[in-house]
Amino acid sequence: MFDSDFETARLPRGDYAPLLSQLDGLLAGEADLGANAANLAALAFHALPDINWLGCYWLRGDTLVVGAFQGRPACTRIALGQGVCGTAAARRETVIVEDVHAFPGHIACDPASRSEIVVPLIRGDRLLGVLDVDSPLPARFDARDRTGLEAMAARLLAASGEAPPLP
Ligand code: SME
Repeated sequence: MFDSDFETARLPRGDYAPLLSQLDGLLAGEADLGANAANLAALAFHALPDINWLGCYWLRGDTLVVGAFQGRPACTRIALGQGVCGTAAARRETVIVEDVHAFPGHIACDPASRSEIVVPLIRGDRLLGVLDVDSPLPARFDARDRTGLEAMAARLLAASGEAPPLP
């Protein structure tokens, strides 16, 4: 189900096929969205090159609350419409930011972050949250990342049930 060597091997930029295959193995037979998101974060964080943060925020009312992630501790809550995450959530579309310092309202959780991509997690017409990835390199993300991460998000939601409940 899972190739343990894969976790330590970084993929070439833009090559999401092995990652999607590994993700399918991890998601098979498990419907807990929180657990699946945690495994997605661990898998992708260790496989994608040149990233320093990867994880989910879940929508609670009109606020995004941090969920499973890999990387340095992050801001816990982001209002809809705020920062890159809140913007992608409000627009319900993927946002790629080549230079976070040039993005109005960017929220700096890890000062090392220079570029970012945020993919909304939408089931039907319902926004569940976002998948956020940060890189220490400027302009790290392109259309291949958009396609690959949107495919990962779609698999996560297809395999899983509801968002994890608040404690
Ligand atoms: N930079 C994000 C905040 C989340 S962290 O990057 C993990 C934003 O502007 O929404």
